[in-house]
Amino acid sequence: MKGHFLLPLSFCGAVTAQLDKLAKEAGLLYFGTAVDNPSLNNQNYLRIARDPAEFGSLTPANGQKWSSTQPSQGRFTYGSGDAIAHVARQTGQQLRCHTLIWYNQLPGWVGSVYSRDQMQQIITTHIQNVVGHYKGRCYAWDVVNEAMEDDGRYRNNPMYRAMGVDYITHSFKIAQQTDPAARLYYNDFNIERCCNAKINATIAMIRTVKAAGAPVHGIGMQGHSRVGMSPSKREMKETMARFSELVDEVAFTEVDIRHTKLPIGTAEREQQGRDYMEVVGACLETPKCVGITVWDFTDQYSWIPQQYPGEGEACLWDRNYNQKPAYHSIVGLLHSAASAGLRASATQAPIATVTAAV
Ligand code: XIL
Repeated sequence: MKGHFLLPLSFCGAVTAQLDKLAKEAGLLYFGTAVDNPSLNNQNYLRIARDPAEFGSLTPANGQKWSSTQPSQGRFTYGSGDAIAHVARQTGQQLRCHTLIWYNQLPGWVGSVYSRDQMQQIITTHIQNVVGHYKGRCYAWDVVNEAMEDDGRYRNNPMYRAMGVDYITHSFKIAQQTDPAARLYYNDFNIERCCNAKINATIAMIRTVKAAGAPVHGIGMQGHSRVGMSPSKREMKETMARFSELVDEVAFTEVDIRHTKLPIGTAEREQQGRDYMEVVGACLETPKCVGITVWDFTDQYSWIPQQYPGEGEACLWDRNYNQKPAYHSIVGLLHSAASAGLRASATQAPIATVTAAV
């Protein structure tokens, strides 16, 4: 079935514009955001981040990474991750936990481990401690992050050098033993637009590790992209359909859509809104897509200007906490999907096409 549901916001009266509330009404499990520690003393920020109707899920942007949680061998520090988990506990927001095994933000001492047995033991200890610390708190864990290269090879990181692909299998097994209730994800970027070498290699890798006993429940597509060049809904749906053959759920885990030239004008802002709508539409129309997380919601704390100098304004709120057209586009789309009753729940078909006129 293919339907178009055109519900201009102006006809809907006062739409309560809150992302998680509408996402749930539309049949997703959550709409979430990353939160980083420097923002926790900003009341303007917190007023939005702590609103469970806006964001049903929080993800520590840095606090649960290896360099934060075990900076030197055997010394575990949870202050940064706990500060964000604490917010979620107070508000009743769910926690999407990120990330256990990643080549980046990895302390140097891990890179000097060469033997297979040593590395296996170090991964075991790391995951048992970190997942154990947050046991029962994480709806999902990004167990392994960014294991593949764009050309489809395995990323040559210290874990891979020591153990080959077994490091991935092993990590998932230990995570499941430690917190059997957590949904365990493989997470990566540039795996949104069907179907490049990285997507094909990711599918092959997931098949390999599952055959070796890795409990992979989900695949996370980070969803970092550029205004006017981001993948279409059709391309993303095709990717997610392929991933859906392998795992129980898929999600967009780190969405931001940056402008590559600044300053921008009205046309660029509206294009950004359309680009965000493609992502949200792709999720709504994929039965196994459970939710969307933005990689922070305000330009004030976006990682983009540091990572890509000269680019930015990638988030749904500007740095002064004004909602952008992209925010309203998403609200309109979620509202339309909810009104049309397209999804009874995050895992139920059938899903139709939904288009909001905003
Ligand atoms: C980023 C953080 O947002 C930055 O603050 C940090 O300096 C670098 O990492 N993919 C991921 C995230 O999986 O963990 C990254 O987060 C962004 C890219």
